[in-house]
Amino acid sequence: MKMKLSTLAFAVGALAMSSTTFAAPPSAEMLSFACAGCHGTNGGSAGLTMPSLASQSKSSIVEAMTKFKSGERPSTIMGRLAKGYSDEQITAMAEFFAKQKLHVTNQKVDKAKVAKAAKIQEKACGRCHLEDGKDGKDDTPVMASQWLEYLQIQMSLYESGKRKMPEKMAEKVKETSKEDLDALMHFYAAQK
Ligand code: HEC
Ligand code: HEC
Repeated sequence: MKMKLSTLAFAVGALAMSSTTFAAPPSAEMLSFACAGCHGTNGGSAGLTMPSLASQSKSSIVEAMTKFKSGERPSTIMGRLAKGYSDEQITAMAEFFAKQKLHVTNQKVDKAKVAKAAKIQEKACGRCHLEDGKDGKDDTPVMASQWLEYLQIQMSLYESGKRKMPEKMAEKVKETSKEDLDALMHFYAAQK
């Protein structure tokens, strides 16, 4: 009996919560539907060239959107898209995606590269790409389980100078060989 009552109380609570979500005009969740075709309904990427947003910190999403909007960060699609949203809407969507669980992917990676990169990551990148990329310091994006292809595209944008690296990251990347950088992308893609 006791258990049933508490289950009922929980169900009523959940119902009340979802009705307030829909009553508020346009909620963060509703706004984020516009992103679902590419970033998934709960921020889990729907395609190899697109990042997952789930569990990224609020500040990392806001920072990325701001850079897309200004054109500072190069993009295929996000520059045009980001211009359609106000700062308030961007913050609301960032809060929504930050609350979603890490999107775990299963992809083909080179196991030898993954093993080799573990130590390099700890030394060269782990100061900001925390917990093997599952978390990020301040505005550092989540790297764990991102599609390898997406990571490779972003890394080559950095290497070509089209995308600007944070200064401290650039110092570390400069000290890392091309081979090791490639291995690091396999490492991050493999983290779950
Ligand atoms: C048509 C597909 C598409 C849609 C719709 C879309 N995105 Fe994106 N998004 C991308 C792609 C592709 C990238 C990689 C940058 C680029 O090439 O534009 C990206 C990158 C991002 C990033 C950077 C994440 C990181 O790890 O660096 C953020 C943040 C983002 N999108 C937020 C959004 C939000 C918020 C919406 C909804 C308002 C949205 N996107 C809608 C395709 C899309
Ligand atoms: C001092 C902190 C710091 C260090 C050290 C660092 N990064 Fe980053 N990294 C960042 C931040 C902040 C961003 C987002 C930058 C932006 O907005 O362009 C980022 C973004 C990235 C991205 C793009 C991810 C995405 O979703 O857009 C890749 C790839 C990356 N870093 C690789 C590395 C590698 C490899 C190393 C180690 C050799 C490294 N980083 C070291 C802070 C750091």
